[in-house]
Order: sequence, then structure tokens, then C-alpha cells
Amino acid sequence: MKFFHSLPTLGLILAPCASAITVAEITGNNYLSPLSRSTFTNLTGLVTAKGPNGLWIRSTRPDDNEQTSESVYLFSRTVGANLTAGDIIKLDGTVTEFRSSNDYLYLTEVIPRNVQLLSKGNPVTPVVLGARTSGIIGNKDVSPPTEQYSGLDNGDVFGVPNNVSRISQVNPQLDPARYGMDFWESLSGELVTIKGVTALGRPANTFGDQWVYGNWPVTGKNSRGGLTVTYRDSNPETIIVGSPLDGTRNPNATKLGDSLTDITGIVQYNFGFYSVLPLTAPSVKSSRSPALPPPATIRSKGRCNALSVADYNIENFAPGNSRIPLVVEHIATYLGAPSIVFLQEIQDDSGATNNGVVDANLTLSGLTQALQARTGIPFDFIDVDPVNNADGGQPGGNIRNAYLFNPKEVRLYKPNPGSSTDANAVLPGPSLRFNPGRIDAPPVFTSSRKPLVAQWETLDGKGNFFTVNVHWTSKGGSTSLQGDPRPPVNGGIENRNAQANVTGSFISQILAQDKNAAVIAAGDFNEFATVEPLKRFVQISGLQDLDVVSGIPAVERYTYTFGSSQQQLDHMYVSPSVAKHVGRKDYEHVHVNTWAAEEDVASDHDPTVASLNVCKR
Ligand SMILES: *[C@@H]1O[C@H](CO)[C@@H](O)[C@H](O)[C@H]1NC(C)=O
Ligand SMILES: *[C@@H]1O[C@H](CO)[C@@H](O)[C@H](O)[C@H]1NC(C)=O
Ligand SMILES: *[C@@H]1O[C@H](CO)[C@@H](O)[C@H](O)[C@H]1NC(C)=O
Ligand SMILES: *[C@@H]1O[C@H](CO)[C@@H](O)[C@H](O)[C@H]1NC(C)=O
Ligand SMILES: *[C@@H]1O[C@H](CO)[C@@H](O)[C@H](O)[C@H]1NC(C)=O
Ligand SMILES: *[C@@H]1O[C@H](CO)[C@@H](O)[C@H](O)[C@H]1NC(C)=O
Repeated sequence: MKFFHSLPTLGLILAPCASAITVAEITGNNYLSPLSRSTFTNLTGLVTAKGPNGLWIRSTRPDDNEQTSESVYLFSRTVGANLTAGDIIKLDGTVTEFRSSNDYLYLTEVIPRNVQLLSKGNPVTPVVLGARTSGIIGNKDVSPPTEQYSGLDNGDVFGVPNNVSRISQVNPQLDPARYGMDFWESLSGELVTIKGVTALGRPANTFGDQWVYGNWPVTGKNSRGGLTVTYRDSNPETIIVGSPLDGTRNPNATKLGDSLTDITGIVQYNFGFYSVLPLTAPSVKSSRSPALPPPATIRSKGRCNALSVADYNIENFAPGNSRIPLVVEHIATYLGAPSIVFLQEIQDDSGATNNGVVDANLTLSGLTQALQARTGIPFDFIDVDPVNNADGGQPGGNIRNAYLFNPKEVRLYKPNPGSSTDANAVLPGPSLRFNPGRIDAPPVFTSSRKPLVAQWETLDGKGNFFTVNVHWTSKGGSTSLQGDPRPPVNGGIENRNAQANVTGSFISQILAQDKNAAVIAAGDFNEFATVEPLKRFVQISGLQDLDVVSGIPAVERYTYTFGSSQQQLDHMYVSPSVAKHVGRKDYEHVHVNTWAAEEDVASDHDPTVASLNVCKR
């Protein structure tokens, strides 16, 4: 409605004396309703859908303002008893804003009174997303923006500082053509159809909620059909499929890239995310094949000019783990039995039992024995036990970083193991005070894993190199990308910034002594390459991002699925002397877990393997 579009602030005053109120006057141009907490009479609307706790109506007098939603939720367990989709009703009511957590957005809803049925059997036509539409929400292409979430993010949803404003306080005007959250908010309560539905991973939770995108333009698309987080593009064109309104269950065995049947449902903000509540559950039409990626083409040569080095977070790995055969298959076959494997999340010999045990010999020897049975290679391992319960993770699990290695190809250079309380240092040589030993700098790694540093040589003595095995503080405590704080809280970022300083400066001391030293830092950095902690790490350490060096396309740089997207938490960084020999085929992320069906998943992370030149120079 043009009139209210140009004079939005007068809505409150004008509504009662103008002709009867419309849905658009209730939903308004902004996130919060201009009529919040007020009562109204004589609203008419078409019932489009019913849910367990209410129903949705669409305006019978739509405006042509794309900022305002033409539909709204009527919250009531009772008034819908005798109503059905296609009924036109008239009601009085109260406008209210509801949320179940301070970090969520408010949902504008109406508490209805005096509901009268005006007519039955009217047509109910969903708005088809990704297509040109006419009528109900104007004559335009209804496709979500693909990069930015909110105008309050200053162009980067992972930018710093974060948590500097709140949508509920700023209450911005919606810009549905530019910002994904504004787009979905402008369709709040609307009945939509999504065609060409693609699953963005396995179900998001045990309720069967499922992230998808539909038949509309997307950015960041990877070769599996998923969407990867790239710089300043975190995929706001995705939406989560919530619980079906008819009580059916969403499919529980979806995988990344699956095609689902068309979905018709209501757009509604739910538990921190814009969701579509389908009228009935979709089903899986087809899955991608092959089911798993091929093994990496990199094969161990065991020579200093082509040493294969892998990295794998094997998720709370304990003795007797049922995932041992899968992990062995991944290391032996998919990574080609590398000379060295950087592992993270190795639990102690008693797993997540909180009993004072910190030793992980059983955990690690179980793995090396199974690997030997499979490959014939007598893999060995090194780690440094943490102080009991000091390094975070599951209580009692005492996760730590560890190395597996092939003793027929590499050995520690002048071993001198440090203990849990020995902080490592760079000595003249360069060499290490403790080999292996942990980098520590209280309180920077409090409740977090200390990086495990080692110096190695190839058995022929021609190669000599340093490795830094990293598992920084997690993103726990983050708020939803579609939540109230803007930019969203990036949990743990201060810790990771400090850890980037300390880890980076340790490495810079090696390179200060020998700018040609071969250094490999790898692991679960719990951060994306373009976000502050890793930008800082590159700058301080002097290392280079192997994804950039090898030229892997940005959308194929992922090792993890979280929420709506594939993303990269696991990285390898190498010193300039190593980087200069790296070609496009020398580095691979092997998507054995992000692509897999639930029963084939060994970890929440994918492993990575590289072939690197660590010859002395
Ligand atoms: C609402 O409708 C009733 C009867 O249809 C009418 O008497 C009343 O004046 C209307 N109220 C407003 C505010 O339009
Ligand atoms: C639904 O219809 C039944 C039977 O006519 C009636 O008893 C009941 O009060 C109606 N419920 C509502 C919410 O209007
Ligand atoms: C975000 O900011 C609010 C103040 O607006 C503060 O109360 C809250 O603790 C902050 N959250 C985090 C995780 O920093
Ligand atoms: C998954 O869904 C199928 C079919 O609806 C059902 O038979 C099976 O029990 C479900 N499995 C789980 C783990 O919920
Ligand atoms: C674990 O292995 C290390 C090195 O092989 C050994 O020194 C240590 O005693 C072992 N711990 C236990 C509990 O066997
Ligand atoms: C990191 O190091 C820089 C430069 O020394 C310092 O200014 C900054 O405060 C440090 N940041 C953290 C989080 O430790």
C-alpha cells in the first residue's frame, strides 16, 4: 500500500479511522510490528494453513509494498477448530511480539478474538519462490539474496567486532532485495512453494529439521550440490525445513546434495532460524552418486621431496570406538597411508569417564594396531598427556592432539619429550627445547588444547622439518547467523585471536632463525581462513595458506557442515620454502564424512592430505 509505504510512522494514528485494518498494516515495513501491543477490529483474511497452536491468514487486500508481509500468524489453540484452508474470516485481536530466547528474533503474531466465518472454499495459491509472481506479493521475482544476512553486519557476518547491535533494538526497515534475513522476514507467515529442493547435509537435529535451498539462484555452490561459506558470503538463500504441520516426519536419512520433493509450507521464524513449516513431509527423490568421493590421488612416497602429510579431527576418539574400522579405512585407503597424520580429539584410555586417567596409549595403540593389520605398516604415535581436565572437551575425556607416523619413513629429530607442564621454546638451530612438546602461554590455552610441536627428519637424513598440530578453542557460544545480535556472536573468537598470536609467534621464531625452514601447521583451527584469527595467524607466523597456494577453488575448501553450509575449520599452513614446490594436485580435502550417510560417518570433520617437499636447503 503506497500510502503507508511513504508515511510509515503515521500507521498507528491512521489505522483506526481509515478503512478496516489490513495484514500489511500489522506486519509493517520493519522487523517489529508498528502496532505491537495494540488491539484492532475487523481484520479479514484467507486461512492458508493450520498448525497445532494456531493458523495463518493472508490478506484479502494486499498492498504492493515488498517490505510488508501479507500474511500473519494467529496464535490460538482453539479458534481454528472449525476452520480450514480456504475459509475467509473476520476477526478482532491484539498484536504481540514473541520470542523464546533473548538471542532470537521476535515473531509478530496476533491473538485473535471474535472470529467470524465469512465464506468457504476460496482458492489458496502458494507463492512460488524462485519464480516470477503476480498478485499477492506484487509482480516480481521472489528469490532470496545470496550473500548478506543483515544490513547491521557491515558487510561481513563474521566481521569484528561482533555483537555490536541488535535487530530488536534497531528495528531496521526491511530491504528484501539485499539482505537474506529481511527477505525471509518480509515473507513471514506466507504460504510458499519451494521447487527443486536440494538438501545441504544430513538432518540438522533429531527432530528431522533439514537445511535446503530451492530452485533459485545461489552462490557458493560446490561440486556436490552444497553451498560453501566463502568470504562475505554465508548463504542466506538457505532455509531450514521444520516440523510438518500435519504431524508427518521429515526424512531422517538425507545426505548432502539429495533432491527432495517440492515443499509447500509456511515461512516462520522458529528457534533462531527462518524455517518453512511444510504442510506435509517431503521425501527424498534421488541422491548423488557415487555415495563417497574417490580416494585421494596423493600417495605416500616417503621421500623428502614428496612426503605425504594428513590432518584429521576424529571427534572424541576413545578405545573400543565403533568408528575404528571407518577411521582406519579413511587413513589407509582414502588418505593413502600418509607418512604423518596430525590427529585431534584423541581421548584418554578411559574415554569420557572422569577418573583421573590422562594416558592415551590404549587409544592410540588400538588405532596403530588396526592400521598395521590393514596396511602392513607398523605405524607409531606420539602425544603429550594433558593435565587432567585442563584442556576442555568432554569432561574426563582429556582430548589432545597426536601424531601417527610411519617409522620406516620419518623419525623425530633428536627426541626430548616434554611433559604436560613443560612449555616448549625455539632454541638455536633452530631446534626445540622439547621434541615433542606443547606450546603454552597461560592463560591463552586455558580449557583448550595446547599446540603439539615436533621436529622430524626423513630416515635418509635428507629432510628436516617442523610440525605444529593445532586445535584451537571451539565456536561454542556463537549465536545463530539469523539471530538478534549483529554481527552474530562468534563464540571463542577472543581466545582464538590470542592463540593465533602465540602459535604464530612461536612459528615466526623458527623462521627468524632460518627463513628456509620447512614448517607445517595443521589441524582444527575452529575458524575460517578469512576471519580475524586466521588472518592474524598468517600475518604473524609467516606461513601461507595451502588452500590458496595450491589453488583449490574456494567453494571446494570445506571440511565440515554446520547449519546451512559447508565450511572450513581444518587447514594446513606451510612455510615459504615448502609452499614454493606446491602444485594444484598436492593438496586434497577428502569429503568422506560431509558427503556420507549417517552410518558411514567416522567424524564430524573431513580429513585432508598433502604431498610436501621438506628437503633440507
Ligand atoms: C467493524 O465491523 C462492524 C460490523 O461489521 C461495524 O459495526 C464496526 O463499525 C466496524 N468497526 C470498525 C472500526 O471498522
Ligand atoms: C466448532 O463447532 C462446534 C459444533 O458446531 C461448536 O460446538 C464449537 O463451539 C465450535 N468451536 C469453535 C472454536 O468455534
Ligand atoms: C552481547 O552483547 C550483550 C549486550 O548487548 C551482552 O549482554 C552479551 O553478554 C554479549 N554476548 C556475548 C557472548 O558477548
Ligand atoms: C527413519 O525413518 C524410517 C521411515 O520413516 C523409520 O522406519 C526409521 O525408524 C527412522 N529411523 C530413525 C533412526 O528414526
Ligand atoms: C605409554 O607409552 C609411553 C611411551 O611408549 C610409556 O612411556 C608409558 O609408560 C606408557 N603408559 C602406560 C600407562 O603404559
Ligand atoms: C596479539 O598481539 C598483538 C601484537 O603484539 C597485540 O596487540 C594484541 O593485543 C594481541 N591480541 C591478543 C588477543 O592477545
